[in-house]
Amino acid sequence: MDAFIVRGGRPLSGTVPVNGAKNSALKLVAAALLAEGRSTVHNVPAIADLAVMKSVLEHLGATVTRDGDGCAIDVPAEIECTTPATLAQQLRASIVVLGPLLARCGRARVAMPGGDKIGSRNIDMHLSGLARMGARIEQGPEGLVAEAERLVGTDIDLPYASVGATENLLLAAVTAAGTTRLANAAREPEVADVAAFLSRMGADISGAGTSVLEIRGVEALHPAEHAVVGDRIEAGTFAVAAAITDGEVRLTDVDPAHLRLPLERLRRAGVEVHAGERELLVRGTGDLRRVDIATLPYPGFPTDLQPQFLALLSQASGSSMVTENVFDGRFTIVPELQRMGADVELLGHHAIVRGPRRLRGAQVRGNDVRAGAALVLAGLAADGETVVTEANHVDRGYADFAARLRALGADVQRRALDRAETDAGVAAGAA
Ligand code: EPU
Repeated sequence: MDAFIVRGGRPLSGTVPVNGAKNSALKLVAAALLAEGRSTVHNVPAIADLAVMKSVLEHLGATVTRDGDGCAIDVPAEIECTTPATLAQQLRASIVVLGPLLARCGRARVAMPGGDKIGSRNIDMHLSGLARMGARIEQGPEGLVAEAERLVGTDIDLPYASVGATENLLLAAVTAAGTTRLANAAREPEVADVAAFLSRMGADISGAGTSVLEIRGVEALHPAEHAVVGDRIEAGTFAVAAAITDGEVRLTDVDPAHLRLPLERLRRAGVEVHAGERELLVRGTGDLRRVDIATLPYPGFPTDLQPQFLALLSQASGSSMVTENVFDGRFTIVPELQRMGADVELLGHHAIVRGPRRLRGAQVRGNDVRAGAALVLAGLAADGETVVTEANHVDRGYADFAARLRALGADVQRRALDRAETDAGVAAGAA
């Protein structure tokens, strides 16, 4: 098991080019399935989740070739319509192939998706939306079996602005017969990015980036080329790294407008933030103050930055209230931060953080991609050595996390823990 070994106390400084967004890239490569021929996606991050998605596509008959940050997806005229359980269980985003497979093959067998352990992750809205478009879907022990000769456009009101459901229905609707009106659609920049790629492929979509999408079905799509939008969550993570270490970090290749609320909260917490055209400068001032945050669908505060802010607020003076509204299991970082000396109290879906409390190094477990990254950030502010186990979760969403932090002056190494070290950490955690 690999771990991050972090020695805190160094202010970070330098420039980080932000990679393409994980949560867009994964869907863009799936969207390529909709057109026979070669689509090319640029600015694709070298993360573990993409390697799994690549395997899913290859299993479906596509050829996926990585060349630097580019990814060429060659899609044959006939594709397979079954995703294997072993791959789907590794990746939540694998469910997004359901819409394209139904559109391309008229049927699909899709294993139930896996992903991070951050609470219940239902797909009822994906399924009821597709059913409204005429799909017959059964859920059995092997996963989902869906059929539809041709999907038919219709009006769908999502009860909640789900990212995955919006994307799946969008992907299904672009070649459906007639018009689909999707109300209360997710407005995340990654969803708008998927819509932009589909439009380049010949789809007829209006309202991308708003809560009402109107999709007029076309007969067929053609391959296209597209560059993935910058990863606002990766940028936000490095911004917190700068703030928590009283450092100064410039982030390039990201649209500050995609981070309006997190940046506003950083400023209110006493962090200096300068937003440029496609870059940000974040500077710690040594005077962190309390702020409250509450996660919501975009443009609300992103749940994917909540654990990082929790770590940051443990260093702010006063009591901050952090409210998680999106996932019911996204406070797994709390007991780990407590072991490092943070004063955090959990009250249902609220966490009350009282600070500042000096953090001390400990062996802690990051059991999802954001929790792992947030614990590394906590380690950067802690006295002594912090060992963040299960580094593989962080690999799912951050390419070369340790090396990129080192390039900013952090003391972060990555290495395999031996059995005795792992057991010692587990014993300390249980104590
Ligand atoms: N939900 C339902 N029914 C559905 C769909 C969703 O009840 O049919 C619930 C979920 O259980 C959850 C909430 O709605 O409580 C949000 O789910 P949503 O569908 O919006 O999220 P997702 O598509 O599963 C994506 C990202 C997540 C990110 C969320 C919210 C991908 C692969 N994942 O998940 O990213 O947190 O949107 O922005 O795009 C991460 O990157 O760390 C991560 C977890």
